[in-house]
Amino acid sequence: MSTSDLVITVVGAGGKMGLRISANLQRSGHTVRYCENHPPAQARVTAEGRELSDTATAAADSDVVVLAVPDVLLGEISAQLVPLLKPGAVVLTLDPAAAYAGVLARRDDIHLACAHPCHPSVFLERTTGEEYADTFGGVAAAQDVVAALESGDDAVRARVEDVVRIMYGPVLDVHWVTVKQLAVLEPTLVETVACMISGLLRDALHETVHTVGVPEPAAKAMLFGHIQVALSNSLRGSNPFSEACLIAMDYGRETIVRDDWKRIFDDAELDSVIARMLRIDAVRPAR
Ligand SMILES: NC(=O)c1ccc[n+]([C@@H]2O[C@H](COP(=O)([O-])OP(=O)(O)OC[C@H]3O[C@@H](n4cnc5c(N)ncnc54)[C@H](O)[C@@H]3O)[C@@H](O)[C@H]2O)c1
Repeated sequence: MSTSDLVITVVGAGGKMGLRISANLQRSGHTVRYCENHPPAQARVTAEGRELSDTATAAADSDVVVLAVPDVLLGEISAQLVPLLKPGAVVLTLDPAAAYAGVLARRDDIHLACAHPCHPSVFLERTTGEEYADTFGGVAAAQDVVAALESGDDAVRARVEDVVRIMYGPVLDVHWVTVKQLAVLEPTLVETVACMISGLLRDALHETVHTVGVPEPAAKAMLFGHIQVALSNSLRGSNPFSEACLIAMDYGRETIVRDDWKRIFDDAELDSVIARMLRIDAVRPAR
């Protein structure tokens, strides 16, 4: 199948991701259908000049059905749609939690795929104003994507990669991993660790300004520059940290980080956090 004759349905087309990916898919040569069930979100779809379709009808003859709906609804919505799909269709989710938890409806002749955007790298060499403005990715700043395919041959993988490269574009690389590896990347590596640390930085800035009384512009200038050089030193080895800085880093780790923090990489912890995220009692991962 050539890449120009796919039928793609976006379910949740008026949500945050639905609007982003629809904007890119709309410019492709594919036939794209937009489905949304919440009136304010429906209005966002039509305001962009996109026509709404009935979800069951649109999905039934689609090659790829993108489920851009909240993760907690993925089990219920996939149970409604998967029985209707034509053999060989792909159900594409945007986050690995539901796939890892085993809550997605399955059929032997339907392929489940998941693709998550990496967002533009902090080390991306941006040259234009549009690239600097595109912090999330999918507009002007290039990003990588990490994807997993639960079943299907190279042709299915190529079809998914074509769609993923359009909806998250501009895309540099698509990295293919297992569903479990994708679940370790998100939530564990990027949400549990990286996003949590970003919140800690925000709270530390607040304390510095509002409790200690340091002028906010001075605190922000110091923090934002040091975040940049610290990431470059730690993740790319750009410069060595000074001896005094290493002592302060040890003090921070002893005071802030629990000794057993690496248990977040245990399977039982991954299961537990994903069950919390999906608001279910327990996950049923395929190990
Ligand atoms: N928001 C992000 O930054 C982000 C980033 C990467 C991946 N994701 C993933 O993208 C997916 C969507 O997240 P979001 O943040 O865009 O959610 P959202 O809540 O912003 O949007 C979801 C949309 O789905 C619609 N919807 C719900 N049930 C529906 C149904 N039965 N039929 C049609 N439409 C329905 C809702 O009305 C809503 O407009 C999730 O899997 C999420 O993990 C989100």
